[in-house]
Amino acid sequence: MGKLILSLIMLVTMSQMSIAKPLVIAHRGAPGYLPEHTMESAVLAFAQNADFIEQDLVVTKDNQLVVLHDIHLDTVTNVAQQYPSRKRADGRYYALDFTLAELRKLTVYERHDLLGKQVFSNRYQGTGKFQITTFEQQIELIQQLNRQFDKNIGFYPEIKSPAWHKQQGVDISKLVLIVLRQRQLDDPNKAIYLQCFDFAETQRLRNKLGAKLKIVQLIAENDWLESPTDYEYLKTTEGLAEIAKVAQGIGPWIPQIFDHKTMQATGLVKQAHQAGLTVHPYTFRQDDLPKNISANQLLDILFKQLKVDGVFSDFPDTVVKYLDENR
Ligand code: G3P
Ligand code: CA
Repeated sequence: MGKLILSLIMLVTMSQMSIAKPLVIAHRGAPGYLPEHTMESAVLAFAQNADFIEQDLVVTKDNQLVVLHDIHLDTVTNVAQQYPSRKRADGRYYALDFTLAELRKLTVYERHDLLGKQVFSNRYQGTGKFQITTFEQQIELIQQLNRQFDKNIGFYPEIKSPAWHKQQGVDISKLVLIVLRQRQLDDPNKAIYLQCFDFAETQRLRNKLGAKLKIVQLIAENDWLESPTDYEYLKTTEGLAEIAKVAQGIGPWIPQIFDHKTMQATGLVKQAHQAGLTVHPYTFRQDDLPKNISANQLLDILFKQLKVDGVFSDFPDTVVKYLDENR
């Protein structure tokens, strides 16, 4: 009971503190309002004044990089209706089995689960003709908007499932670096962070492939089977020191930095800062908040108590407004 009262007093005190300007990272564009990773979602994130716009990347059959969160297509497109015979033995449809021209014929819709239920029921409910886009299309879009509005909104690409792509005979990291270098974006001074969950791939990017840009190591839970990486080790002082040799920051899951049950910091942000790493946790969703915590309270915890350096948000406008009001 004493701890809970202390936490409540802390929340009230924090609501009166001011903070420096951390980064707002538009997580898959602005999917709180428009289907994730579409051009429309990226434009909305730009208009909402995010600092960075995220692009999750996977590869097509003809070695093009497309902006999709999953190696599968079935939960965000009409692939099952359009190409019913193209599923693999596991019943799933893979972006890697389709050419870019084929993928462009698909309609992207609001994320559903495999049973067809919309994951976030109050989000976009229309039937518009949204499309899959390439990484290069999104780079061009953001660069052109930056030029016309005299802004410097950055890129935040994620290399998805490099070990799986490798098993399939594709070196996704090399493809990503080719595009970044063609666009002069492999540069530590540009507004771009490259992110990856697979620590062996992060090390390879820096040490073998010569990546120069800022890199953020994402932290998952081991039981998500996101990659072969041991995340329990990465969260230790030794693990964070290993990360600091090849990356500039970490992207932890919010519950890894703040325990919602005890309402206490886990200490990971402090340890990462001590290792010289910046911290960008994922994902702020005002329609999927931890129990008994309001959107503003969660932002107070992240920015005022934990002092994170940025946050991935499905609702960039909410975080921008919060930061404007709390400066
Ligand atoms: O990349 C940060 C965050 O997006 C990681 O989670 O699964 O949404 O890519 P995910
Ligand atoms: Ca991501």
